[in-house]
Parts: sequence; C-alpha cells; structure tokens
Amino acid sequence: SSSLQVQKYLECFHLPLEKLQEISARLKKDFNRGLGKHTHHRAAVKMLPTFVTATPDGTEKGDFLALDLGGTNFRVLHIRVNEDEQRVMKSQNCAIPQEMMVGTGEQLFDHIAACLGEFVNSQDLKGQTLPLGFTFSFPCEQKEIDKSILIRWTKGFNCSGVEGEDVVKLLKEAIHRRGDYDIGSVAMVNDTVGTMMSCGYKDQSCEIGMIIGTGTNACYMEELKNVKRVEGMEVKEGENRRMCINTEWGGFGDDGALKDILTEYDEEVDRTSINPGIHTFEKMISGMYLGEIVRLVLVKLTQEKLLFNGETSKALLTPGTFETRFISEIEKEDKGVENTKKILADLGLTSNAVDLHIVRLICDTISSRSARLCAAALATIVNRIRVNRKLDHLKTTVGVDGAVYRKHPNFSEELQDMVRRLAPQCDINFIVSEDGSGKGAAMVTAVAQNVCILVY
Ligand code: BG6
Ligand code: GLC
Repeated sequence: SSSLQVQKYLECFHLPLEKLQEISARLKKDFNRGLGKHTHHRAAVKMLPTFVTATPDGTEKGDFLALDLGGTNFRVLHIRVNEDEQRVMKSQNCAIPQEMMVGTGEQLFDHIAACLGEFVNSQDLKGQTLPLGFTFSFPCEQKEIDKSILIRWTKGFNCSGVEGEDVVKLLKEAIHRRGDYDIGSVAMVNDTVGTMMSCGYKDQSCEIGMIIGTGTNACYMEELKNVKRVEGMEVKEGENRRMCINTEWGGFGDDGALKDILTEYDEEVDRTSINPGIHTFEKMISGMYLGEIVRLVLVKLTQEKLLFNGETSKALLTPGTFETRFISEIEKEDKGVENTKKILADLGLTSNAVDLHIVRLICDTISSRSARLCAAALATIVNRIRVNRKLDHLKTTVGVDGAVYRKHPNFSEELQDMVRRLAPQCDINFIVSEDGSGKGAAMVTAVAQNVCILVY
C-alpha cells in the first residue's frame, strides 16, 4: 500500500535506542578531543572555555544593559539585579534586515550600537554608564580574560570582517564612533551560558544550559583539571574547581562522524546553506533547518506520486517556504488537521485526507529525530558529569531555551523520555528560562569580578 511505501522513504530518519547510544559514545570521544591540549585545534566539537567558574551566589546587585544577538530576535534589555530577583525593567526587539546579516561587520555593529543608543535614550539611561552583558550566540574563543574572538559565524549570519576579530572590541568601537552615549564594563557570554546562569540564580544545581531554537548548543560545568587546553589555571591537589564549557555541539559530525545517519535530505540542506560543511549536527536538529528538511521530503514524495496526486506547486519547490513553526502547528493534538489543511492550501497544494495524514507523519518523523538526537547529546553531558564526580547517581538541572523546545507540542516530552533511557543513572530536572540569556548575561556581568570573565 502507499502507506508502506511512505514508511520506506522515512526509514532513513529512524534512530533506534542502540543507534542513539552509539552516537552518544561518539560525542563523548569528541568532547575529549575538544578539551585536549593537543587535539582541540582540529576538533569538530570545540568545547570552548568560557572563564565562567562560578554561578551566582545571590549577592549581586545593580542595573545592567544586555544585548541578545543570535536567536530569532535581536533584543536590548535593561535589567535590575538584587538579592532575590533579576528583573527585566524593559526590553525591546530590534529588527536586523536580512541583507545586514550577510553584509559587512561594520554595518552590523553600527546597527547594534544604534539600537542600543535608541534604547538608552528612551529609557533615560543616557547619563549613566551601565555595565553591559552581551549575549552573542556564536562560537567564540575566549583566550584571555578580555578577548572574545569569533571563530566563525553560524546560523543565518555571515558578515565580513568579523571572524577572527574581537567582538567586544567591535561593539565598543561602534559605540565610540557614535559618541553620544557610553557603556561600562562588558561581559560576553554564549546564549547557553546566559541560560544556565539565569536558571542557576533560582536553582543552585543548574549546571547545564541548552538551546534548541534557531540553532542548537549546550554548555555545562566541567572539572577544571579536565580543561587541558586552558593554560595557567592550575588546580591544586584536592581542589574541585569547575569551569563552564560551551560545547558547540552543533559542529558534531563536521569531520564525517555522522555520515552513517545523514540522509540525502540532510546533504541537500547542507549544500544549499550559507555555510556548507559546517554545523552538521545542528542542521539535523534546529529551527533554522527542520522546516526545510520537511519540504525536501514533501517534494520527494510528491515526485514519487505518494502525495498531492503527484502535483507539486511553485511554493513547495521554493527553498525556505516550509517554515519550522508549521511543524508544530501540524503536530498539534486538537487543531493539527485544520492547521495542516490551511498550511498546504497556502502553499498552493491540493490535499485529501490521506495526504493530511502523511504530511503529519513526515513532520512527526523529522521532529522526533531532532528530539532524539538532542537527547543523545544531552545524555553524553549528564553521563560525563556523573562520571567526573564519581557518582552512582546524579541529580542535576538543565536550563533550556529556544523556540523548538518551547513551541513544539511534544518535543520536550520526547527529549526528556529519551534522555532518561540513555542516562538511567541521572535524574534531570528541566527548567525553561524566561528572558534567560539576557538576564544571564547581566548576571555574568554582575559576578564578573568573582568569575574572572572579560572585564573592559
Ligand atoms: C532566547 C535567548 O530566549 O532564546 C537567546 O534569549 C537565544 O539568547 C534564543 O538565542 C534561542 O531561541 P530562538 O528560538 O529564538 O533561536
Ligand atoms: C549556534 C551557535 C552557538 C549557539 C547556538 C544556539 O550553534 O554556534 O554558539 O549557542 O547556535 O543559539
């Protein structure tokens, strides 16, 4: 029957438990390579030191500005931190035009400085020189305390003249070019770190931050003695110091390690992306790519006459037209069928009841694979923390953010179930962060002295 034929096409996306265990074991090896003194230069999973060695202790206070760049929205925030809360006094989204995401770095930073200037002005903060937390959700090498060098752009960004440069310096220069306001010390954090830090304020056992949104990534607290690539941070015998590591797990597979599970659709998504060969794992998981994978499968099954009576449409054949949020809308328990009809009609497709069922099955297959892959990666982290600490049983908390995790009807459930199966000796509590990384960046700025992070 046609249903069996459809199943056959979707088989390549199925990842049984044993396969996930195998993938988790491969990632474990890559973690070691990324942390290793002599191996990290060529590692696909970068394991970047963040110089964040402490979580907030609740004594931090003050007003902060925060910038949040790299998710769906670019945001500017004014945050007040006191003993028992971090409060967003005001926040504003600021659009970044598509051309600017692939234009020059100078244009981008001028734009960021302009948005911040407008915000500072409207909030009557112009006279003050507030410290700023900069959530910059891209891989950066934080070699020294006061330098954060962009290794490479990921997701939709590709601005010239920024890779290999110090991002905080570029921001400061752009603000100085304007000359109409100034900022205080700057601390830069990855969104995973910001998310972990803001959740850590509420739950002291939060030592992992995870993002499943436009991109995907996670950070966790690693034993300092294992961070062989950072020099000059000797640990004394018997001391249990830790440092937060930004894994950049999105790069998993960039050396071919995931070849056996990549499908022809994944290869096509990679080929047509702005950064072929980069962030293989991310391209199978995150919001920037899931919709496109579904679209490619829809096209294929239509061409095989298993969908829409064999008739594609102009929209369906256009890259990017099947948005990732459609997957969530189609998979909704109650309104799913209705939503599917509307989405397909808007794409110029004529569908019958069987088509609706198949489209849902495709969405479910792609989102499930994403959740299971994330689970395998998260299992690698929790198992590692447990072994690091020589525990039979680990109880820990993960702070999470990102539209895929938040908005999809059963993604979080599927991910959690699967991690429990892959890491049976770990008891994991998941908390979704609200304004996480903006607040977290402010927290890092606030504890900057204690945590020896970049201070300008
Ligand atoms: C936001 C964080 O809430 O989540 C960002 O503040 C982060 O820093 C983002 O990048 C990830 O989600 P998305 O779905 O917007 O990419
Ligand atoms: C990309 C970035 C990474 C970020 C993630 C989630 O993978 O390289 O730094 O944390 O997206 O936004």
